[in-house]
Amino acid sequence: MRNPIIVTGGAGYIGSHTCKALHAAGYTPVSYDNMVYGHHWAVRWGPHEVGDIHDRTRIDAVLEEYRPTAIIHFAAYAYVGESMQDPGKYYRNNVAGTLTLLEAMRDHGIDKLVFSSSCATYGLPEQVPIAEEHPQRPINPYGTSKLMVEWMLRDFGDAHGLRAIALRYFNAAGADPASDIGESHDPETHLIPLVLDAALGRRSEVTIFGDDYPTVDGTCIRDYIHVTDLAQAHVLALQALEQGASSTAYNLGNGYGFSVREVIDCVERVTQRSVPALIGARRPGDPPRLVGDSTRIRAELGWQPVYAALDTIIATAWRWSRQKKADDQHGPNHV
Ligand code: UFG
Repeated sequence: MRNPIIVTGGAGYIGSHTCKALHAAGYTPVSYDNMVYGHHWAVRWGPHEVGDIHDRTRIDAVLEEYRPTAIIHFAAYAYVGESMQDPGKYYRNNVAGTLTLLEAMRDHGIDKLVFSSSCATYGLPEQVPIAEEHPQRPINPYGTSKLMVEWMLRDFGDAHGLRAIALRYFNAAGADPASDIGESHDPETHLIPLVLDAALGRRSEVTIFGDDYPTVDGTCIRDYIHVTDLAQAHVLALQALEQGASSTAYNLGNGYGFSVREVIDCVERVTQRSVPALIGARRPGDPPRLVGDSTRIRAELGWQPVYAALDTIIATAWRWSRQKKADDQHGPNHV
């Protein structure tokens, strides 16, 4: 098997797109996923090992079998609202689970990790765009759990020589341009898939969470980044570690923001369908404006987003969304 890389959470949204990019770059992605939120149909570019990051015996067996030189770690819970209601679930899975994985890596002599972090580690921005030096003061347990892992990576680096690159994503969106895979969360909470569902008539409307923010049209602004561009950044980070790079963290965003209303307008334009929108209350914990400064990863790793335009992000998600309907009718093993 050529260059096996373990991808925890490889059956999830960003994990599966990264598996496709790894395969194209000459690696064998080995998906390690407990299938709580993952999809069997999303694992298409390498072996699929069902297992939990808490299960040290299972992790040991998989590391023994494939002898990977590096791990890309996505497996985590990622519902911000749920993390406020049930923080223990997030600390147990995202923090304690990652600790189990790091100890296994240490014991198997695996010293390279690419970690799926988040702009949620910054909390309320003091200025935008947000650069990596911005203070990290998360405002919810999800963001705190990701920051705690960043600290563990630093300490495992100091003590055991682990080299890790943490990638802090802004708003992942879009779908594989070939429509092999795409976004499919249950429950879905993210803006673009919800707006597309409304365009398809699968839901009657979307609710805009607040229109009284201090932004141009009163709705929240986010930096949407195409999932395939995110996936490519993981390949670049892995290659940098292979070439001896030291531990660091990079932001991943496009550097410009779109309001909720602009996203809805763009969906209407791209899909040629109308989207009924209601104004609702603000969602607790939503910062008015999150935009990332990704200058460093462009300069240091040569990352170049290919699908940066919002129209492209939405057009790929739209193609996937329409096809997903057909897949759902055929059952999850259709693909
Ligand atoms: N929104 C609506 N209506 C909806 C859904 C969302 O108005 O039905 C708004 C939100 O209030 C927000 C924007 O659309 O202003 C985007 O919301 P998402 O839920 O799609 O994404 P978030 O900005 O909340 O993403 C955050 C962090 C990420 C983190 C992610 C976890 O920015 O770093 O939550 O899912 F990974």
